[in-house]
Amino acid sequence: MISLGIEGTAHTLGVGIVSEENVLSNITDSYCSDGGIHPREAADHHASVIGKIMENSLSEAGIKKEDIDLISFSMGPGLGPCLRIVASAARSLSINLNIPIIGVNHCVAHIEIGRFITGAKDPVTLYVSGGNTQILAYAEKKYRVFGETLDIGIGNMQDTFGRELEIGFPCGKEIDLLANKGQNYLELPYSIKGMDFSFSGLLTESIKKLKTNRQEDVTFSIMETAYSLVVEASERAMSHTEKNELLLTGGVASSKRLKDMCSLMCLERDAAFFIPPPSLCRDNGAMIAYQGLLEYTNGRRMKIEETVIKQKWRTDEVEVNWI
Ligand code: FE2
Repeated sequence: MISLGIEGTAHTLGVGIVSEENVLSNITDSYCSDGGIHPREAADHHASVIGKIMENSLSEAGIKKEDIDLISFSMGPGLGPCLRIVASAARSLSINLNIPIIGVNHCVAHIEIGRFITGAKDPVTLYVSGGNTQILAYAEKKYRVFGETLDIGIGNMQDTFGRELEIGFPCGKEIDLLANKGQNYLELPYSIKGMDFSFSGLLTESIKKLKTNRQEDVTFSIMETAYSLVVEASERAMSHTEKNELLLTGGVASSKRLKDMCSLMCLERDAAFFIPPPSLCRDNGAMIAYQGLLEYTNGRRMKIEETVIKQKWRTDEVEVNWI
């Protein structure tokens, strides 16, 4: 069975094609701006590139659109205008090709492509991106949220801080380079409440510190603090659930420092650490295609009228029918 997945929850439009055994193609194109994401502009970007990205994805997979058996799309959570573009494209493909459609949860898709590609069996997942920062693990038919940000995502914090430094958007790589040059750790708010954490106080204080300190030292300190928070909460989730695998995913998973911290924590706990390749960590169509395939082959069916987008669709609202 061949599934084509369309991702478009935020700034990336992706089209991926998977079979039950392999990722056949995975093409993305991202909206860039100096001022963060403007939802309608991002949606316009998606609408303008989707045709080309679809063509490229089919040609990389070496198939025609008539070979596709299933259409999957990111139904939420995400930005309304972006989700609507993707849902419309998916519905028209499903109707034109007369094949089934499945709308999937973006966060769950990150976890499942991670398990598929790395071989992790039952991990605690640390999902770090612009809009989302969550610690997730499977229990009794749901991916439960064991900890999450109470305000902004870690990537959102990073991008807002990057704008203060005037280094564009998205700015993860530049932030990492600057942080590597930092030498002095500056004391900053370390906000963790039980298993949840917050980043906005850390962001505000870091911006203030830029007035009197080296950029490199403030960048080093804000990222060191943010990463420590999420790794601490992940370790507690592993201890609480007695799971001995950690899966790191999401756009911010490309940070070398975060990977090192996770890897060290796992080493100390005698746990296994998994991280998918960058193209499958960041937002992409292959993970959506794979998630749809997983749900469809395990019996899920959706009528077109049920494919309504869910901007605030929580991970723990999805009934897991494939484990
Ligand atoms: Fe994501």
